[in-house]
Amino acid sequence: MEKSNGQRVILFPLPLQGCINPMLQLATILHSKGFSITVIHTSFNAPKPSNHPLFTFLQIPDGLSDAETRTHDVTLLLTRLNRSCVSPFRECLTKLYQSAKEEKERISCLIHDAQWIFTQPLTQSLDLQRLVLSTYNVSFFHGHFVLPQLRRERLLLLQEQDDLVQEFPPLRKKDLSQILEEETELLDSYSDKILETTKTSSGVIFVSSCEELDQDSLTLARQDFKVPIYAIGPSHINFPAMSSSLFTPDDTCIPWLDKQEDKSVIYVSFGSLANMSVSELIEIAWGLSNSNQPFLLVVRVGSVKDAEWIETIPEEVMERVKAKGKIVKWAPQQEVLKHRAVGGFLTHNGWNSTVESVCEGVPMICLPFVWDQLLNARFVSDVWRVGIHLEGRIERNVIERVVRRLLLEREGEVVRERMKLLMEKVRRSVKQNGSAYRSLEHLVDRISSF
Ligand code: UDX
Repeated sequence: MEKSNGQRVILFPLPLQGCINPMLQLATILHSKGFSITVIHTSFNAPKPSNHPLFTFLQIPDGLSDAETRTHDVTLLLTRLNRSCVSPFRECLTKLYQSAKEEKERISCLIHDAQWIFTQPLTQSLDLQRLVLSTYNVSFFHGHFVLPQLRRERLLLLQEQDDLVQEFPPLRKKDLSQILEEETELLDSYSDKILETTKTSSGVIFVSSCEELDQDSLTLARQDFKVPIYAIGPSHINFPAMSSSLFTPDDTCIPWLDKQEDKSVIYVSFGSLANMSVSELIEIAWGLSNSNQPFLLVVRVGSVKDAEWIETIPEEVMERVKAKGKIVKWAPQQEVLKHRAVGGFLTHNGWNSTVESVCEGVPMICLPFVWDQLLNARFVSDVWRVGIHLEGRIERNVIERVVRRLLLEREGEVVRERMKLLMEKVRRSVKQNGSAYRSLEHLVDRISSF
């Protein structure tokens, strides 16, 4: 780590696993460049300060009841948080700002998740610079502001289902109908606020994107947002962060993987938010065991609707699962993807999972559930061509077949070769003079200049 530069950066992550990880990753990078770090966070899904002894953590009350935090409606959760956190956040930041002034410490800026939409007037009144961080890829973040308009034109759009959505490539019309199903007017006005908050910021940071993954959208985003954009790449390669997992990873995965042959295992995980039905879980369990390949399946507690965990999987399937597979509640995902035994990743294509898979050269089977996952899956299957798209079908025969195609057949080999090339390109990007490396340097210079 470099010596402290006497400047403090304040970070405000959104309390979702897929958003906390990138923000604490950025904190690790900035700390290594000499910045002191303060993380303001909600009591809901609070990160564990003991995992990050070098940062200061300040908790604010978020006013959510237990029932409200258990909702599956993420938009509702986020709009509620955006209402209830305004005063506690203002109080916390103002105090911090005043005590820094008294102690003659310089607060360089606030970096907050793009989905916090109330920060602008406060930072303006404190004369504090503000950067936003997007955990989506550049294409989705830039493109999703067109969704309200597409929703209004929905009837016109739903004809040729396989066609690309012109305003939002490489999304296909059938993906759009799935995204718009989720969308409501509440989300439309929320998106408008995110856009306004972004355009009035001092810049946008994309933690896991880089020119190599998303060049066209970076160009468009620079034109449209008219603020500096930093695509600093999958920096966890250079700056391994302490775990920021909200769940406890089951480390017995690793000795189990040690016993499997090279590139023989299919790893299956759907991130921290996606939910499935009991029958979908049973189809997945059947399909995996019928494939006859070893598999590591993550089933998050609470992710199966109307069930505790995996108790609804019939005994006859469990017998087969025990012979060939392992089911855990949460995995040390980055370690799993690095393991020599893992040959493929059946994923929901959250952006973090997608990039983590690319960085380890693991080809994917795409089973996107909602929102940005549908676009990420199209990048994987149609643009980079480093995975096979399941087209949303959760049926045992389809799963059995696709696992065998990826792990055992020539088609899988071709996909794996392409993935190796993409991995090398992305890894070069974060090395000295790579595009992401340079973008990070610009970001650090910029923050230092505030
Ligand atoms: C969601 C969206 O899907 C994602 O696209 C958006 O950018 C952030 O919010 P999530 O669904 O949780 O995130 O998926 P993902 O982005 O893939 O993040 C999951 C994170 O949890 C990854 O960093 C992954 O390594 C970690 N994880 C997941 C584990 O450590 N163990 C697991 O068993 C599963």
